[in-house]
Amino acid sequence: MKDSKYTTIEEALKKHLTQVYLRGWIYRERKSNKFVFIVLRDESDIIQCVISKNKNQELFETAEKLTIESSVKISGELKKDVRAPTGFEVSVSELEIIQISEPFPITEHQSPELLYDNRHLWLRSRKLNAVLKIRHTIVGAIHKFFRDHGYYEFDAPIFQPSMSEGGSTLFEVKYFEDKVYLSQSWQLYAEAGVFSLGKIYNMGPTFRAEKSKTSRHLAEFWMAEMEAAWMKLDELTEVAKDEIRFIIQEVLKNNKKELEILNRDIPLLENYVKVEYPTIKYAEVLEILNEKYQMNVPWGKDLRTIEEAKIAEHFKVPVVVTHYPTEIMGFYKPPSDENPEEALCFDMLAPEGYCEIIGGSERSLSVENMMERLRAEGETPETYEWYFDLRRYGSVPHSGYGLGVERVISWICGLDNIKDAIPFPRTMLRKTP
Ligand code: 4AD
Ligand code: MG
Repeated sequence: MKDSKYTTIEEALKKHLTQVYLRGWIYRERKSNKFVFIVLRDESDIIQCVISKNKNQELFETAEKLTIESSVKISGELKKDVRAPTGFEVSVSELEIIQISEPFPITEHQSPELLYDNRHLWLRSRKLNAVLKIRHTIVGAIHKFFRDHGYYEFDAPIFQPSMSEGGSTLFEVKYFEDKVYLSQSWQLYAEAGVFSLGKIYNMGPTFRAEKSKTSRHLAEFWMAEMEAAWMKLDELTEVAKDEIRFIIQEVLKNNKKELEILNRDIPLLENYVKVEYPTIKYAEVLEILNEKYQMNVPWGKDLRTIEEAKIAEHFKVPVVVTHYPTEIMGFYKPPSDENPEEALCFDMLAPEGYCEIIGGSERSLSVENMMERLRAEGETPETYEWYFDLRRYGSVPHSGYGLGVERVISWICGLDNIKDAIPFPRTMLRKTP
């Protein structure tokens, strides 16, 4: 049975309760010879609690034993107190210790590596608590966005027989007597799905053996992808813009408190909901880079992070870049009819240095062209026969994109490193805890 007298700290404050029953962990403690001050933390908030020796000697002696992260149940009187960290204080009348914590390995001012080694404990920090709540909102918003727009959720296998995004970042897995790869993308299977369901989406774990140690790459991340029959590039990019605006709107609606804990610039986020996001071609990007920043990027080179960052700085809002050089794009991105050097694809770049958050394209309908490009990449086109069938039996134009969930979380939360956007990060250098 639910022990109904207990509330969270947040509920107690919202309901203006005077007598409160709380359960949680010791976030901070300070002892003097007359008082024990503790800051209690639960899933919802923190609150200062005070135990006075004068009022209750026995209670005071119990409270003196408390260490950081000890678990407790308390009851007492809730009062406004301007001196307390969150403006309220509980004058404790009962205290039950559930467990006295051993010395907590995380103290103030720890190195990032120690925090990652103790990730299972650092999840309790106010920062990660706030990020994880925003992550929850973002994941919910993505499901809501697609479901409200008539997309069906569609699942693809994680074990896949071949690559979709380049052989160099595949994770190989022993599969009985054979081998398979962990999914780099849901896309190829989604292209089969749209011939049945029309418009589909998914959000799932995605794997890339990225040999880069940047603050933007994970080896295991979550990608939110969509695919739609009949859709062309111009409509596709508008869906992506609407999705991003909707995600930010949902975070602003549900997570003001968490954004404040993270010191995020809220008016800036509010502005991203209101403004239009420009769409420009790769060729125009080069003009801006060359003219405004004297960067001299030659046509045909993929944009590096520094170049993407300059473009985002130039526009100060998310920007969609289309028509990258076909030559450097994945085998399934079709050349445009007007200029085969340019592919019908796009990336969305986030401002404030966060760069690529979405990548997508129309899908090539030419088996011949795709075979040729797969061969050029050293792949065996024969393993893609099922995929080519989709071009043989009632082929129609279709397109889709993938959004990097942790990239979007990093940007919206203003994080320094993508590792803090996921509970247990996996990178080239980190596979524990
Ligand atoms: O641009 P990418 O590689 O596109 C695809 O995989 C397409 N098949 C998607 C599709 O059209 N359905 O990846 C999509 C997004 C990137 O824009 C980026 O935000 C994110 O996934 N991403 C990563 N996020 C974290 N760590 C990594 N190693 C990432 N690689 C890609
Ligand atoms: Mg990409």
